[in-house]
Amino acid sequence: MTPLHKVIINKDTKTNPIWIMRQAGRYLPEFREIRKENPDFINLCLNESLATEITLQPLKRFNLDAAIIFSDILMLPYGLNQKVEFEKGFGPKLGKVNINEMSKLDEVDFVQKIYPIYKAIKKVSMSNKVKNKNTIGFVGAPWTLLVYIINQQSPKKNLKENFFKDSFLINRILLILEKFLKIHIKNQIDNGVNVIQIFDSWAGLLDEKDLPNYVYSPTLSLVNYVKSLNTPVICFPREIKNYKEFCDIVKPDAVSIDYNVNPKKILNDIKIPIQGGLDPKILLSDKETLKRETIKYLDIFKDHPYIFNLGHGVLPETDPNMFEYMVNTVKSY
Ligand code: CP3
Repeated sequence: MTPLHKVIINKDTKTNPIWIMRQAGRYLPEFREIRKENPDFINLCLNESLATEITLQPLKRFNLDAAIIFSDILMLPYGLNQKVEFEKGFGPKLGKVNINEMSKLDEVDFVQKIYPIYKAIKKVSMSNKVKNKNTIGFVGAPWTLLVYIINQQSPKKNLKENFFKDSFLINRILLILEKFLKIHIKNQIDNGVNVIQIFDSWAGLLDEKDLPNYVYSPTLSLVNYVKSLNTPVICFPREIKNYKEFCDIVKPDAVSIDYNVNPKKILNDIKIPIQGGLDPKILLSDKETLKRETIKYLDIFKDHPYIFNLGHGVLPETDPNMFEYMVNTVKSY
């Protein structure tokens, strides 16, 4: 059994696997090298051999326990024929939704449009770099994808005015998302991923009263679907106000916490395996601080099934030596 599966399935507390969100990305010079030659981010995600290479880059350098497929949650709206672009220094820019076209889309056309992702997954999962390790697939949660689809860009702290105005449109989009997210999850699993993480990066934007409709109910449906495929599922409802309520209702196999969560409090509140938490900015400090903070998380969770990770993605300005130092601190704990 892989270290991640030991923690998630067997609730093992003796092993501390580590993988890091955005472990394949701009803090690595070898990624920036490829990126320089490939200014179109979507095309890069659809380049089967480069996506495979980028996914494996961090595993060549560091003693990590999992590969996470180099792709993006916005490949889903792209597959649904919404225009998606990444602008340097700005982030994602999406076109207007065409709900009638989206409603007519069939599974075959969707899968064909993003097919190279599945081929890359197959290559990664067959590589000897992931022997006895996991290949993690992922999707954006329906709510977070809805945010990008309607907002057409990152919301930062606020959604655009009148975001919720057209509830008929919103509910249609949520249903379409649920259908195609399941298709995307199934294809990832069929091609070799053996853990799924659901990223709900904007869960924290919602008032508590809106969580059942936009977060709990659509995410529960996906979680149950992943479980039905005998694959462990990790949820990351970033900055959600009540992690305990989320876990009680949605029941993921593990939950990833953001860096504003008090680790001691969550330890008391939640029984399922926990992942993550360390503030990515700690990697920009010094080795002494990094070691102290890394060990703080390991100590707090030493009798709880725990997967080491950060409380959000690794920052582009991170020094790979600091990243390595963190990995080695976890591995020699
Ligand atoms: O974690 C990994 O290493 C796997 C790959 C991965 C990427 N994006 C690659 C990426 C994963 C899992 C994601 C998820 C993702 N994408 C999320 C959820 C997690 C989170 O960060 O909250 C979100 C919200 C997105 C949407 C997205 N993609 C944004 C807002 C941006 C621009 C901001 C930024 O960091 O540049 C991206 C671009 C992106 N996705 C990059 C990478 C490596 C940077 C692209 C570049 O090289 O310019």
